[in-house]
Order: sequence, then structure tokens, then C-alpha cells
Amino acid sequence: MENSSPIGIFDSGVGGLSIAREIRRLLPNEDLLYYADSAYCPYGEKPPSIIKQRVFALSDFLLSKGAKILVVACNTASIVSLDEIRNKYDVPVVGVEPAVKPAVAATKTGTIGVLATGVTLSGDRFSSLVKRYCSKTDVVTQPCPGLVELVEKGMINSSRAEELLRKYTRPLLEKNADTVVLGCTHYPFLREKIQAIVGPGVTVIDTGEPVARQTARVLDKHNLKSSRQCRGRETFFTSGDIKTVEPVVQLLWDDETLKVNYVPLGGISIETN
Ligand code: DGL
Repeated sequence: MENSSPIGIFDSGVGGLSIAREIRRLLPNEDLLYYADSAYCPYGEKPPSIIKQRVFALSDFLLSKGAKILVVACNTASIVSLDEIRNKYDVPVVGVEPAVKPAVAATKTGTIGVLATGVTLSGDRFSSLVKRYCSKTDVVTQPCPGLVELVEKGMINSSRAEELLRKYTRPLLEKNADTVVLGCTHYPFLREKIQAIVGPGVTVIDTGEPVARQTARVLDKHNLKSSRQCRGRETFFTSGDIKTVEPVVQLLWDDETLKVNYVPLGGISIETN
């Protein structure tokens, strides 16, 4: 494995760009490959068996493109399949999980709220996180159907997003949560709206920066950090409709000239709606 090889990052869609942008900030000289599995998004409403098949297809693809490390920039995919990815592949693998531990450290009321997909909140990995860190903290969990789809369409400032966020944060506020964990990588793109709704007294936590730091640590540990002096490149791929996905990636990555490559990784027949 070459140090100059790229970092492979994937998500069910564009949400993992919230992780990728922090990796770009922290590791400006690395080449990044990003795969948005938008044709199969949302993972949060799919059976774990389908999510696993997708995750292996995406990992195989990124490794075929020379990825030296895999970053699973999706809580749902990490909750369902992180152990299996680690067992299957030789490269280091970094996953993401809801930031329960920092939220427990931050709360003053003793109640934290976690916004995530239904699959994440019902996964064993999430229950063991809660068991490990929340013996003295109350946890209010809230699945958020519909939010991921809005981010996938770039509708981050829409009134529909506002309406859903008010609905999903209300139970957390009613239970006096003063710390809200964004347990899905799509949600940081709604962060400003969420903060405005919950108010300045509530701390909103996401995992972009810690995952970027963890990626840097793992690269260091395996002597895989790029020694290149110039800025790295980003290459974007998607299984989704390029006409929909490309403008949203341009919006979220803040670069209206970037191109997204359409690479369908098929072989699984499921209904997409
Ligand atoms: N971005 C994802 C996550 O972190 C997946 C959301 C979805 O596809 O439902 O959970």
C-alpha cells in the first residue's frame, strides 16, 4: 500500500460529506475518494442484510481504486456492519457512531437527546454505547424519517426541513435534554437550523471532527500518511441519478465546478422509491 494512495470514504448518500469535509480540512494533502450510494438511500429504512451487501460492494469498489483506508462515513452502515468490514478487509477501517460519550460529558441536566435513523437506534452497537456511558444519564432517542431525503435533494433550508426538525426535537426538549447528538452524518448539514430551533442553551454535537482526527491517527499508526506537499484531489462517485446528485454535492462541498462520476454498483434487486 502506497502512502500516496487515496482515502476511501462512503455513505448511503451525500451525508458522509460532513465527515469528508473535516478530513479534507485536517489532511489537506491526501487524495479523497467519496462514494454516495444515493440509488439505495436511505439505508435507515432498509434491512441490515441489504445494507451489508451495499457496504461490501462499495468497499470493494473503493479498494479497487486503490484506497489505503476505508472511512465508513455513515452511522447506520457502521452500526450494522463495522465488525464485518474490519474482518473482511486488510486495510484499516474507521467507522462512525453517535457521539454519546461527549454528550454525557457535556450535559448539565443529566438528559441527552440522540437524533438518528431507526436502524442506528435499534442496533446492538448503539445499545452497548448507551449501556457503557449512560448509567447516570437519561437518553431520549428520536428516529427522524424524511430528513435524509431532504438533504439528498439539497433542501436544507426548506420549510419542510424546519417542520420536521421542530417535530423531532420537541420530545427531546420536553424531557429537558440540554445536549443533542446528531447521530446521522446527513444531519450536520441541518445544524444551523437545529441550533436555531433548540436555542443557544442546548449543545449540538456531531462527529465530523473526531472522525477526521481518528482517521489521521490511524494513518499515522500504519505509516500511511501522504508525504506529498501539494493539495490532494477529491473524486466523487455515485450510484444515483447524476442530475440530482451532482448539484447537491456541489452545494454541500461548496464547489460548483466539481464533477460526480456515475458508477452503478448493482447486483442487488430492491425496490427504491
Ligand atoms: N448518513 C447516514 C447515517 O449516518 C445514513 C442515513 C440513511 O441512509 O438513512 O446514518
